[in-house]
Amino acid sequence: PGTDEVRPPVRVERDGVVATVVIDRPKALNALSPDVLRALAAAFDELAAEGDAVRGVLVVGEGGRAFVAGADIRSLATLTPEEGAESARLGHRVAAVIEAFPAPVIACVDGFALGGGLELAMACDMIYATDASAFGQPEVRLGLIPGFGGTVRLPRAVGLSFAKELIYTGRRIDAATAEAAGLVARRFPDREALLAGARATIDEVAQNAWTAVALAKRVLVEASGTPTATASDLEVAGFADAFRTDDMREGVAAFIEKREPRFSGR
Ligand code: CAA
Repeated sequence: PGTDEVRPPVRVERDGVVATVVIDRPKALNALSPDVLRALAAAFDELAAEGDAVRGVLVVGEGGRAFVAGADIRSLATLTPEEGAESARLGHRVAAVIEAFPAPVIACVDGFALGGGLELAMACDMIYATDASAFGQPEVRLGLIPGFGGTVRLPRAVGLSFAKELIYTGRRIDAATAEAAGLVARRFPDREALLAGARATIDEVAQNAWTAVALAKRVLVEASGTPTATASDLEVAGFADAFRTDDMREGVAAFIEKREPRFSGR
């Protein structure tokens, strides 16, 4: 007892090219206090500094009950409107750091992904989940609205109509419903299968040119929600940037020479 509070709330584990960011505050169902949010941003900044040594990141919640049960409600209780805005900005900064991260980030959801927890998961490149998971934006039940990107990313993930239904009701949906809605990319029977499946995806991505995956992510993230003409311009710019890379020369040459490519990540 008590040890929970002295451990850092976020730790990073490494297994070859895969990094796992563990949110470790299980007694509060991994709720996102300002400390947790700052530690998350710092963890991604440090991993980004490693360049192509990190080919993908898994984000997991400790404790077996929750990915993240939301923003920390206790630390919201007494905020002024200005402090509320500051708190939301911190959540958006974490989302921006994850979206700027140059390799895929997979939210591995096993349990509750509610409010800020679902918003954190949606800032990742894809959501993988166990059948024991539950998703929702319950903020209106607290007199709040989603503050870490839920009104932005949930409609993009599931369409405006279903997003409004979820946000106005605060209702929770299960993993099968979330998968059918396109919110969850892949569903697994248990945590072990979830983590193995997420690692397998990162390993598969790591066969490809790191530069190209990073460019594809940049275009997908920046173009999301923009008008077609803007999105097309972003794609043209990213496509052009691929021609600056050794990886593109190598990938195309390998195809023409009928051999496997040897990408350098440059
Ligand atoms: N913030 C702070 N503490 C939380 C928390 C949260 N979001 N979610 C759970 N906890 C704490 C509980 O207070 C409890 O702590 P104590 O043991 O000290 O009382 C502990 O975690 C376990 O939770 P419960 O006893 O409630 O567990 P349960 O199994 O009965 O219920 C639950 C689980 C349905 C997830 C329930 O905890 C719950 O509804 N949590 C809040 C979900 C929520 O409203 N999230 C949105 C937060 S607001 C937000 O996220 C705003 C935004 O967009 C930025």
